[in-house]
Amino acid sequence: MEKEKGLFYIETWGCQMNEEDSEKLSGMLRNIGYSNTEDKEKANIIIFNTCCVRENAELKVYGNLGALKKLKKENPDLIIAVCGCMMQQEGMAEGIIKKFPFVDIIFGTHNSHKFPEYLNRAKQEGKSIIEIWNEEEGVVEGLPIDRKSDVKAFVTIMYGCNNFCTYCIVPYVRGRERSRKPEDIEEEIQSLVKKGYKEITLLGQNVNSYGKDLVPLLSFSQLLRRLNEIEGLERIRFMTSHPKDLTDDVIDAISECDKLCEHIHLPVQSGSAKILKKMNRSYDREQYLELVKKIKERIPGVALSTDIIVGFPGETEEDFEETLSLIKEVEYDTAFTFIYSKRKGTPADEMEEQIADDVKHKRFNRLIDTVNKIFEKKNKEYEGRVVEILVEGESKTSDDRLMGRTRTGKLVNFYGDKSNIGKFIEVKIVKSNSFSLTGEEI
Ligand code: 5AD
Ligand code: SF4
Repeated sequence: MEKEKGLFYIETWGCQMNEEDSEKLSGMLRNIGYSNTEDKEKANIIIFNTCCVRENAELKVYGNLGALKKLKKENPDLIIAVCGCMMQQEGMAEGIIKKFPFVDIIFGTHNSHKFPEYLNRAKQEGKSIIEIWNEEEGVVEGLPIDRKSDVKAFVTIMYGCNNFCTYCIVPYVRGRERSRKPEDIEEEIQSLVKKGYKEITLLGQNVNSYGKDLVPLLSFSQLLRRLNEIEGLERIRFMTSHPKDLTDDVIDAISECDKLCEHIHLPVQSGSAKILKKMNRSYDREQYLELVKKIKERIPGVALSTDIIVGFPGETEEDFEETLSLIKEVEYDTAFTFIYSKRKGTPADEMEEQIADDVKHKRFNRLIDTVNKIFEKKNKEYEGRVVEILVEGESKTSDDRLMGRTRTGKLVNFYGDKSNIGKFIEVKIVKSNSFSLTGEEI
């Protein structure tokens, strides 16, 4: 390790994939002698890792970049870098440099492993560097990762997406599906377990199509069964599952493998067959409900979560009500709810019958009311029960409680000893609300 060179600050927008990329950037910077700071004003390097899945995320990046002008003026040696999905959009990097000429480095999602090189160049050349690759370079292994938690870790098993849902920008900015080799995944998890990690979440835009590009072929369920054999690992989760690809062998693996948690994130997006078709989701309402029925039968006590979009082009009041009725029928444990956001370059952006903003917002509020009531009902079922939780750390509530999660992913806040962090303990659930449970150690 070299002598400390300075401090870096990373701000991350968007999904777990971006979080993981930031953990890698952080790992690389530590390897070359930098340390992390939570204070932008003290940083020698500021990195914004951007998201473009919805317009809101982009607007936040612009606002935050504007605010850096003052910092750069006060400290001309400050290096400002912008990366992530937003930068993969055509013309975006050039636009950013034009608007914010004080940005030093711009790179994309396919070449973030090159960041230390760009950093050196920016320091030596003293001019802005734009490096965006349109093609991925296969899978880059072996990058250092500076993980946020010591208890649970996210492990990417595949990159990219081949699905092209008509609203979604991800396939354009993250490229085609590429699976990591099972040996590399196993090795990473084994080394995490050696460091004391207990829980792993496998990540991919569509984990169920894992391995289709590998020689020899290996299915997702085969990977799950292999990982279930890792000694010392206690819990395995995964996300995201595309309903069209969640096959029986995966459901069997969850029901048969002791480490696989009873929680499936199964984005439905809409409850209307007509809208699902326009979204290019490749399943209809009935098929989705059949799948849910099968999952509930085969995995007793399973928790289901989902993603829902309101206000997709052409969505009528009836279509929206079908979404509400599907939610009530499935009874999700949690849901990520979104207002449809037009994304340039996607087919839905060109569709007629775009929904007016006020209609979208009204529907969104009704959606929130509906899902909250269901979460509340589902959480109430836990009251009085004794559950096992993995204690993850301090609670985000303002008191000095700890927090942990059940196998089904329920967040439990409780008063307890910090020495329990990283351990499995039993708690009795004494109270519940829409988003969390209150427990007492027993
Ligand atoms: N508008 C709103 N929500 C979107 N999502 C993806 N693209 C859009 C968009 N253009 C949501 C989907 C996806 C989640 C990660 O983000 O629900 O599952
Ligand atoms: Fe986007 Fe659909 Fe791929 Fe998910 S499956 S990343 S929603 S295109």
